[in-house]
Amino acid sequence: MNDIIQAILTRRSVRAYQPRQIGEKDLQEILLAGQYAPTAMGDQLWHFTVVQNAELKEKLQLLCKASFKNSDIPSLRELSSRDDVHVFYHAPTLVIVSADSKAVAPLWDSVLAMENMLLAASSLGISSCWVHSPMIVYGAPEGPASLSSIGLNFPEGHVPYAAAVFGYSAQPLPEAAPRKPGTVTLLQ
Ligand SMILES: Cc1cc2nc3c(=O)[nH]c(=O)nc-3n(C[C@H](O)[C@H](O)[C@H](O)COP(=O)(O)O)c2cc1C
Repeated sequence: MNDIIQAILTRRSVRAYQPRQIGEKDLQEILLAGQYAPTAMGDQLWHFTVVQNAELKEKLQLLCKASFKNSDIPSLRELSSRDDVHVFYHAPTLVIVSADSKAVAPLWDSVLAMENMLLAASSLGISSCWVHSPMIVYGAPEGPASLSSIGLNFPEGHVPYAAAVFGYSAQPLPEAAPRKPGTVTLLQ
């Protein structure tokens, strides 16, 4: 099995992090991998916002938890009042990929960029986890204004489509869930 497939198969979502920040060189390589993802029509109308400021990250996670209060999903509503829940798992780095909502395929562009970054991180021994709550916050009517009020602004016309935390795992990597059978149709 080659290194790329190995990285794909061994990446796991990690939900407990050491406080140690990831190195600048590793961060830049991860971001570069993101920027080499395909984009529809090659438009690259995306932006990568890296949040390493602990105060800003904490303000954002409080907004995220507050947004769960209004969720249709009961388990999210329950999480919103739990003090032991940190939506970013205390990871030292958060990356949000936004894109121009008028691009050809901004959601898909952003998600592909994020997957490249998750895999690049994994190949460098850095763990990650997609965190959906920044997009939930943004999607609420007052979302963009509340993000702006804590100092989180995206380029004009941009919408955040993908977010993930990065850092060093504080625990052994979890096992992958078994793959569901019957998900492939081969027409030859
Ligand atoms: C669209 C999307 C949203 C997700 N949102 C969250 C999230 O908010 N918090 C979280 O801990 N994991 C989140 N995950 C991670 C999944 O729970 C995880 O990928 C899945 O359980 C499979 O585990 P693995 O990544 O280790 O293979 C999300 C994944 C995707 C693709």
